[in-house]
Amino acid sequence: MISAKTKVCCIIGNPVDHSLSPQMHNAAFKALSLDYVFLAFKVENALKALSGFRSVGMEGIVVTVPHKQAIIKSLDSLDEAARKIGAVNAIKNSHGILKGTNTDWIGAVKSLEEKTILTGKKVALLGAGGAARAIIYGLKKKQAEITLFNRTPEKAESLAKEFGLARTGSLDDINKIRQNEIIINSTSVGMEEDKSPIPAGAVTNQLVFDIIYTPHKTRLIRIALEKKCPVVYGYKMVLFGGTEIFKFFTGLQAPQKIMEKALLKNLH
Ligand code: ATR
Repeated sequence: MISAKTKVCCIIGNPVDHSLSPQMHNAAFKALSLDYVFLAFKVENALKALSGFRSVGMEGIVVTVPHKQAIIKSLDSLDEAARKIGAVNAIKNSHGILKGTNTDWIGAVKSLEEKTILTGKKVALLGAGGAARAIIYGLKKKQAEITLFNRTPEKAESLAKEFGLARTGSLDDINKIRQNEIIINSTSVGMEEDKSPIPAGAVTNQLVFDIIYTPHKTRLIRIALEKKCPVVYGYKMVLFGGTEIFKFFTGLQAPQKIMEKALLKNLH
């Protein structure tokens, strides 16, 4: 029962109506009988929203596109991951002190680690945007060898320089992509249109991870499945990023299976 004591958490984004965070976190709160509720707010001005959240004592805030970077300047503290990635995806309100973190990198690493060991693996990372930054941070922690492939070479080069990566390439360089053991798509290609960011010929026997979770089976994932490659679905990154957020907000171990069930139920 929601009462005056119920702790309120939320997600802010624009748009936000596609978000699965409310279903995932409310299922987890219910499973552990916690007096918490999780809501979604479509927010245009994140800084104004944050000032409101401070005054009403919002317990935790999940942050999604387009606010992940801009909101940083209004927080009281950031952990190392959020600082290095340059974006936050969750904020915890500890007695009026707003602390920012970024769990996207853990989401990506844990998703891949269900299928492989990352240390020393050659990874073709497609894309050089915000999502790529979190993935690079995670893969570097695991000492994977990253080559960054992007449509706009200058963006790949500048990101590679910032994170100390030795190699970059273009999305149509089939031979160079083939030299890797893992392919990760962090571009937005495949979300709106049934397209793959790379030619089918670049996929041979790699582990293929597409961070896009709608549709569940992107064109890239379907190419990989046809070639009998192991695959990692995008919803896993939402799940493992989400279980870390649950721990960050409540201090408790997340009920992972329950959260996964809630996600899958709402994806199909
Ligand atoms: P996010 O925060 O989700 O990473 P982003 O920062 O806008 O979003 O980055 C989007 C990524 O998808 C970029 O790498 C972008 O490539 P560019 O750097 O060349 O813009 C990539 N991307 C978007 N549309 C693309 C397309 N049609 N073909 C290839 N790459 C595309």
